[in-house]
Amino acid sequence: MWKVFSYLKAYRLAIAAALFLTLLELGVELLQPLIMAKIIDQGILKSDLGVVKLWGGVMFGLAIIAFIAGVANSFFSAHVSQNYGFDIRRRVFEKVQSFSFVNFNKFPASSLITRMTNDVTQLQNTVFMSLRIMLRAPLLLAGGVIMSLIVNWKLAMVLVVALPILLFFLSWVLKKAGTMFRDVQDKLDGVNRVMRENLMGMRLIKAFLRRDHESDRFEQASDELKTKTVSSLRLIEVSIPALLFVMNVAILLILWIGTKQVSLGSIAVGEVVAIVNYSFRISSVLTIISFIIMAFSRAKASAHRIGEVLDTEVDLSESADTDQSLAIKKGVVEFKHVTFQYPESEVAVLQDVSFSVKEGETLAIMGSTGSGKTSLVQLIPRLYEVNDGQVLVDGQDVKLYPIESLRNGIGVVPQEAVLFTGSVTENIGWGKEHATEEEVVAAAKDAQIHETIEKLPNKYETRVGQRGVNLSGGQKQRLSIARALVRQPKILMLDDSTSALDLKTEGKLLTALRKYSCTTFIITQKISTAMEANRILILDDGRVEAWGTHEELLKTSPLYVKMVQSQFGEEEFQHVTGFKQTSST
Ligand code: CTP
Ligand code: MG
Repeated sequence: MWKVFSYLKAYRLAIAAALFLTLLELGVELLQPLIMAKIIDQGILKSDLGVVKLWGGVMFGLAIIAFIAGVANSFFSAHVSQNYGFDIRRRVFEKVQSFSFVNFNKFPASSLITRMTNDVTQLQNTVFMSLRIMLRAPLLLAGGVIMSLIVNWKLAMVLVVALPILLFFLSWVLKKAGTMFRDVQDKLDGVNRVMRENLMGMRLIKAFLRRDHESDRFEQASDELKTKTVSSLRLIEVSIPALLFVMNVAILLILWIGTKQVSLGSIAVGEVVAIVNYSFRISSVLTIISFIIMAFSRAKASAHRIGEVLDTEVDLSESADTDQSLAIKKGVVEFKHVTFQYPESEVAVLQDVSFSVKEGETLAIMGSTGSGKTSLVQLIPRLYEVNDGQVLVDGQDVKLYPIESLRNGIGVVPQEAVLFTGSVTENIGWGKEHATEEEVVAAAKDAQIHETIEKLPNKYETRVGQRGVNLSGGQKQRLSIARALVRQPKILMLDDSTSALDLKTEGKLLTALRKYSCTTFIITQKISTAMEANRILILDDGRVEAWGTHEELLKTSPLYVKMVQSQFGEEEFQHVTGFKQTSST
């Protein structure tokens, strides 16, 4: 947690300036009652107008200095706190970018968003307040006591006794409020989660008429946040009157003892007035201190939450034996007895998977839903680590590749097309740094989306994603295929990416892909697509049921034959397989 605060080091000078200005302001404030005492005792009581004028002038001058110091302090405080917030946000963002899939599972997206926004703001505000007033409060407290001791140490003893009581109480509140505010931030995560899910699933909610249900869910999360916040604030609210009570008793005592001493002639009226004046200032500071405690407790909770993200160990990093010179040249892929299991799951989703794909060849992967197709291809760019066995690219274990050069050679088209806010060109060009206009158009043509783009209102400059035009599922799929193609990858992975395309468009796409001479993995449910591939791999519940050419599988894989039967009519079946349907079962 302290690491989060240590980023303030970069602003040492500005912080020092802000603190110095605070001290200046504070000095003036502490001198004022002293001067007031002088004006009363030597000016007013002795009817000496000269003294009143002189010290009145000094007070005025000091007030102007304090004003200027205050403005300058605000300037520095704002500079430091805003930059500090900017730094932390950037660091958290970069850290999150380096997260592996396993790391992501630990932090829900909504929680990461709250941490990057609300928690950072919380810290930022606290830093600003610290520089602006927080230091003033404790110093004014201590300074008030010290000045009182200077004015008249006997009378000031009342304050010296009251102070430890106040401090003890304050530290107790600080500790308790810290844990309470951490709960508050967690509840805020909850509200954000419901809100996020709702915004993303708006169409579904409307279609399913689940508005009331969702409203209830939101209300519940929101209510929990309110309850927690109220109870945390209550602690602070109760603490203010308690503190003021202690101080008021002290002031009454000072007045009582002071009056007696004045009548005995052992103390001047001005001195009593000064000490009472200091006591009132201390009282007013106590309210500020309560606010400070609240801010600090919140900041502590936020710093803890941000620290959690920053301290997360990225488990998928490069090892010592990484060969920095390795890069994908051919795109030969081989799986050797691969077993894989998701870290958070109990059962292996891939077991003893072995197969190989030659340079430039196409492998179709088939299998029922949940059989492990997506999991299998994710292992090639090393999005997850295998538990057993090896994944080899160009004969080298993927673990030996620098992650960047490994992933640079691979084009991924995920099962669910994701578009970013921006133009069509930006979305396709996103796949390759500094992609030229020609490269983007060429990729779009091959992905069979060029004609559709030409019909959009602003063609390639049309905005898609949020606040842009809405594209159909198949259009989105083809855009993300174009994004992968623009990389000119050595290995291309299409995860069910042609599911929404009609046969004719799909055929054109597959033909266009041939000229890329990249090793291609096509996950598909369609036999017609699989038949275009050099070989087909059939997965069944995480195991390889069969692997070979279409003709081979017709002989060796009952599962494949069943799929062929279910997808073709009798005549087509005969044409595709070369034998009558009845003879195959
Ligand atoms: N799984 C998991 N944790 C994940 C993703 C998947 O435990 N983060 C499990 C699923 O429950 C499933 C198995 O892994 O039982 C295989 O999932 P996947 O590889 O995604 O299956 P696919 O064959 O790709 O299924 P689909 O055709 O539906 O895409
Ligand atoms: Mg899948």
